[in-house]
Amino acid sequence: MSDQVLKAGVIGWPIDHSLSPHLHGYWLKEYNINGVYEAFAVEPENLETHLRGLADQGRRGTNVTLPHKEATLAIVDQADDQARKIGAVNTVVVQADGTLYGSNSDGFGFLENLKDHQPHWRADNGPAVVLGAGGAARAILIALQGAGAPEIRLLNRTKSRADDLAVELGGSIKIGDWENRAEILAEAETLVNTTSLGMQGQSMLDIDLAQLPETALVTDIVYTPLETDLLKNAKARGNPTVDGLGMLLHQARPGFAAWFGVEPEVTDELRSHILSVMAN
Ligand code: ATR
Repeated sequence: MSDQVLKAGVIGWPIDHSLSPHLHGYWLKEYNINGVYEAFAVEPENLETHLRGLADQGRRGTNVTLPHKEATLAIVDQADDQARKIGAVNTVVVQADGTLYGSNSDGFGFLENLKDHQPHWRADNGPAVVLGAGGAARAILIALQGAGAPEIRLLNRTKSRADDLAVELGGSIKIGDWENRAEILAEAETLVNTTSLGMQGQSMLDIDLAQLPETALVTDIVYTPLETDLLKNAKARGNPTVDGLGMLLHQARPGFAAWFGVEPEVTDELRSHILSVMAN
């Protein structure tokens, strides 16, 4: 039925500030698709009812954001390896038989953003330093491991959280002290901030970059402001940098493709559109 309206959306609690409707709305228009993408504020106690009701409402699926990502993993009928490893789902697809398939595209979005803006960067160029051990760090650590980072140095203000993550994810993760964050940068080829430091209204991320090789790629998951002090300082000393907005844009691609049947592109125009939404 070509005249059928394809429906998807995003759920969170709260959801008011989500950029996803603007992002998917842009693509729906761009690709001339007869579809809608809506935001729903879903209280935690209503999460399962909402997800189980997707098929009856004729919805193809949904994106999932805070605080529902972990709980959604426990509800879906099937989940991909990434979602299970990360312990969280950000994309749900209603399958032909009505069952729910959960996946997680945060790590994909992280890596695609780096490839997009710094095509020469490779995770196996050398050690990576990851600052922070919250939910965002998990997806990034798994992505870096999967992409072949030979060593990951993980630092978090609360060291025990970093220890727990290293035990769980295993492999090449080495824990450092938050206080030694300047020294730990020696010989690193990738530096990622996954903490909320540097975000508008938060304290700045105080880190001396002197020991970081100038070839190292520096990226930040914070994108308000777009150019954090970390990125500004790194750029000033000649390091390649990538801002965090592209991770949000790229993580949206697999869901859009599954629900609406078109592989969408992240373009400069899309970026400008989202930046203008953020400015208003
Ligand atoms: P998310 O799931 O988005 O990653 P989170 O779980 O609240 O959010 O994690 C936020 C990260 O920012 C954590 O690594 C946190 O460190 P703690 O585990 O010690 O709380 C880090 N963070 C937040 N404020 C910080 C600060 N003032 N100094 C250092 N790290 C900070």
